Amino acid sequence: MNVLIIGNGGREHALAWKVARSPRVEQVLVAPGNAGTAREPGMENVAVDATDIDGLVALARDRQVHLTIVGPEAPLAAGLVDRFQSAGLACFGPRADAARLESSKAFAKDFMVRHQIPTAGHATVDNVADGLKFARTIGFPLVLKADGLAAGKGVVIVDNEDQARSTLEDMLSGQSFGAAGHRVVVEEFLVGEEASFIVIAANRQVLPLASSQDHKRRDDGDRGPNTGGMGAYSPAPAVSEDVHDTIMADIIRPTLDGLASDGCPFTGFLYAGVMLTAAGPRVLEFNVRFGDPETQPVMMRLESDLVDLVEAALEGRLDRTAAKWDRRVALGVVLAAGGYPQDYARGEPISGLDTEWPGHVKVFHAGTAIDDNGSVVTSGGRVLCLTALGDDVAQAQAEAYRWLAHIGFRDAYHRTDIGFRAIGRD
Ligand code: AMP
Ligand code: GLY
Repeated sequence: MNVLIIGNGGREHALAWKVARSPRVEQVLVAPGNAGTAREPGMENVAVDATDIDGLVALARDRQVHLTIVGPEAPLAAGLVDRFQSAGLACFGPRADAARLESSKAFAKDFMVRHQIPTAGHATVDNVADGLKFARTIGFPLVLKADGLAAGKGVVIVDNEDQARSTLEDMLSGQSFGAAGHRVVVEEFLVGEEASFIVIAANRQVLPLASSQDHKRRDDGDRGPNTGGMGAYSPAPAVSEDVHDTIMADIIRPTLDGLASDGCPFTGFLYAGVMLTAAGPRVLEFNVRFGDPETQPVMMRLESDLVDLVEAALEGRLDRTAAKWDRRVALGVVLAAGGYPQDYARGEPISGLDTEWPGHVKVFHAGTAIDDNGSVVTSGGRVLCLTALGDDVAQAQAEAYRWLAHIGFRDAYHRTDIGFRAIGRD
């Protein structure tokens, strides 16, 4: 069969790579893909943008695509799955109404309150005075979140009333995030360790995937500005069996049941970003897609055929399906362009990609492109994510950094401590 993967990041390279390993798959199309997916055997990039829904429907028809898997949130929020379904095309992801769990933080918070899903206390406001009034009742630090999609940048932690006022003004006026900031969630600050809990879901059926943890801050020690994620590993030792069971019972099942009973059942990858607080797990955010870079280590460990799992979901057989995992730890380090998450250079040639990589190492591309001379160059902030397997976190980390040293480009930047919390725990 032919499978279409939508998106162009490291997540999509990892999903496409895993799908291409299925003996049932002839060709993997990636729209629009990156230099990594262009160079994989059995894979072809097609120059259709991830948000060009008409173009994608036409592509799936023309190329006899049997199954489409959506990587990023924007096309899901824009109703890509609704359109594919109307066209009679199999597509894995939530419809737009269920995708509101990610595309509107105000919707997600209301939903959690209504269904008693544990999360930080909050108020949704549309003016500065109400925001400050609520802020005074919960105290500082606190968290301000632009309601709409803001590419992972819409969350600001403020330490005092002055910061709260200026951030609220910038968000609500539309200055910082456009219309996404016209409503703001003011939220209690939670303390604890974060984990990414990702499941395959189909209506009320669910198959939990391996746990993972990412590092969102740019610099070592989890300092510096927030990014899309500078590295990740799986499993996350903080997610013990007990914690896993609590998250399934108190968060994942009530979320799927709640969406189903609200008339917007969820199908797709559901990602709960969870803070493990002293009082138990609390939802920080929902994503309606796989995480990036969490996908890269999780796909390295998945031994089952991803196409089988996705089909089981689409055909209502998920509750009779299990996933098999490599017992080893996978750890991925992001190599970014200097300056990310602010301005950075593009078009820098990347050296070392033709290294002979051992079987336990994989270079997943993200912001890469092929230039007019056929060379692989940088084209985004997060350029690639080198992922390695090891017997424990320390070994996976050592292998990832050892092999990452083979790759370079001008002004390349990476953290040197991915996995440090898990190693500290061992
Ligand atoms: P979000 O996009 O909601 O996941 O927020 C991005 C990051 O901000 C999270 O991964 C956390 O590190 C941090 N964050 C979000 N909400 C809270 C909160 N209520 N308390 C503490 N940190 C938070
Ligand atoms: N790594 C966080 C995310 O994908 O949202």
